[in-house]
Amino acid sequence: MKTNEPTVLLGVTGCIAAYKACEVLRLLQKAGARVKVVMTPTGAEFVTPATFRALSQNEVALAMIAEHDEPIHHISLAQEADVFLIAPATANTINKLAAGIADNLLTTTALATEAPLIIAPAMNVHMWRDPATQAALATLIARGVQIIEPEEGYLACGEEGEGKLADVQTIAQSTLAELNRSQDYAGRRVLITAGATREHIDPVRFISSPASGRTGYLLAGQAARRGAEVWLVSGPTELPDPFGVNVLRVTSADQMNQACQEVFSAQKPDVAVFSAAVADFKPVTTASQKLKKGTDLPAREATDAVMKLELALNPDILFSIAERKGQCFVVGFAAESENLLDNALAKLRAKGADLIVANDISDPNLGFASELNRWQLLSSSGAEDTGILSKQALVGLLLDRIASKLN
Ligand code: C5P
Repeated sequence: MKTNEPTVLLGVTGCIAAYKACEVLRLLQKAGARVKVVMTPTGAEFVTPATFRALSQNEVALAMIAEHDEPIHHISLAQEADVFLIAPATANTINKLAAGIADNLLTTTALATEAPLIIAPAMNVHMWRDPATQAALATLIARGVQIIEPEEGYLACGEEGEGKLADVQTIAQSTLAELNRSQDYAGRRVLITAGATREHIDPVRFISSPASGRTGYLLAGQAARRGAEVWLVSGPTELPDPFGVNVLRVTSADQMNQACQEVFSAQKPDVAVFSAAVADFKPVTTASQKLKKGTDLPAREATDAVMKLELALNPDILFSIAERKGQCFVVGFAAESENLLDNALAKLRAKGADLIVANDISDPNLGFASELNRWQLLSSSGAEDTGILSKQALVGLLLDRIASKLN
């Protein structure tokens, strides 16, 4: 039955790290959350349900068929949860969740709930790296599931590597943050650009950037999960559509601009976030056929030949939307290789944005391909250094800051 108390449904699966779920439970309770525990049959062999019953002061859900005259067990559990945290999550459970298999009370409840799902995996390093597990995780991320990455370390099986359950404090904090955010974007409309544009020279050659689009896709998925209606205008990427988001796929900056202007006029978004790496220039002409070496291009043998490409300026999408933004909160990104704060501040003013997310691309350990990053959030109220965080956490923080500025 749904209560008014914020409720975390804690799923415990069968692995040695199951005992750490007791500590997670205590931390959640200390922060004022009500916790109900659901276990897989193997989970219940590692730590007895009696332990979780005593700690949570609630019955532990284990049997698919309820013993008493309760309503349908997995449905009542699914409805009770404001957040569903599975910690530890085994490879078996992760792969089942990705496939939609519902063969025990935990997996059935995961399928039945509409609450945000958070998964903290724990397993042997080879099971973690296995393509099946990685594909399952990618599927779950695309559906908006939050993954709390395991750490590297000495594993229970005696091997070294990734697979160790994340720190219990990190798990509890992420869960509590999710509990606070559940629906803070309800009724909000959000426009997001993502990925790199391609400016074609001919059908097979183009000017672009190595941006993966991951930040924009994470933003879109999280904003949708927090209740927003989201339009994601994306350059070509390998990423699957985030769950519950309107995705418009484009190729060039001109197409991205047109899609953004149309969405902006038709939907009147409350927030617009321009995370795409838009090419500043495009070739003046695009050849309809592949350019041939020796005819259209210098021949390979002509080693001292110079090939000249004429470029024209692309529209600045952020600038032109900011010019007519009205009540819309406009966010831009500034990837800088020097004088980060000065350049980002200049961009905040020049572009007419309300907030600029600045990051230093000169640090080889952070940025484009890395899962970790560090942002400076600049607005008229000053600068905030996020410190080094996962992209997932950074995106959550940015949405928190934007939400606090909306009326
Ligand atoms: O001017 P610069 O490319 O450094 O600015 C980066 C910011 O402007 C990013 O938020 C990017 O998405 C946006 N932008 C844009 N249209 C362009 C170029 C950049 O919306 N043509």
